[in-house]
Amino acid sequence: MIKEVKQKFDGYAEVYDEWFMKNENLFTSELRLFQKALGDIKDKRILSVGCGSGLFESYIDCSGVEGIEPSVDMGEIAKKRGVNIIKFGLIEDVILPEETYDIIYFNGSSSYIEDLVPVYEKCIKALKKGGKLILLDVPKESAFGFMYLLGKSLNTYDHEYLKGVMPALPYPLALASSGVWHSTEEKIGVLKDLGINDFAFYQTLIKNPMYTNEEPEEVTEGYKSGGYVAVIARKG
Ligand SMILES: C[S@@+](CC[C@H](N)C(=O)[O-])C[C@H]1O[C@@H](n2cnc3c(N)ncnc32)[C@H](O)[C@@H]1O
Repeated sequence: MIKEVKQKFDGYAEVYDEWFMKNENLFTSELRLFQKALGDIKDKRILSVGCGSGLFESYIDCSGVEGIEPSVDMGEIAKKRGVNIIKFGLIEDVILPEETYDIIYFNGSSSYIEDLVPVYEKCIKALKKGGKLILLDVPKESAFGFMYLLGKSLNTYDHEYLKGVMPALPYPLALASSGVWHSTEEKIGVLKDLGINDFAFYQTLIKNPMYTNEEPEEVTEGYKSGGYVAVIARKG
């Protein structure tokens, strides 16, 4: 008998998409960062690790995007949105062909993976020479990171310390709590140890969390201020 393992995002597919739709300006800021980081994707072979419901992919031409997603709830929606799901499972359990992809990206998924080393190593091997590993995440050191870690340790956002300073519709507590939340420096360190030395960085969500949904933000270079950051690592 196959043992069904409950994945972190099982049961949250609708909640997840709804949260972005209700935080429309925040979503637009993140989408801008996503599109900027991906750049020109025409004729590229692309893999989205932890593609979720394919929400971001539904705003690009995702006909050439392959996806890996452990949560069947999420992945089934991504499939309907046009992502070619090559595996319902964890990246840790997938064998990827070597020197195959132009771009492999993790949009928010590194934040749910404990040990990044074997996972990034596998992806770097699967990239063509000159290919890009793109990591988009809420950095642990950002205001959003602090907020999620505080919510996780208090097991609530409804606490006197947070009164009057929370966004109107914060990211679902269960999803903040199941996150592992890595810092950008930690990810850069892992990639450097794996032999990467060509980096570019972009960021958005510069405003404090309670103001981020007031209007969409622009993408700027760097990683030290944003609540959503893209690390672009080029394989030499
Ligand atoms: C924050 S969501 C991001 C989903 C999607 N990329 C997006 O941007 O909307 C994180 C996703 O990573 C997936 N995930 C968690 N652990 C994973 C793992 N070990 N391997 C692959 N995906 C994973 C989750 O199931 C979830 O869909």
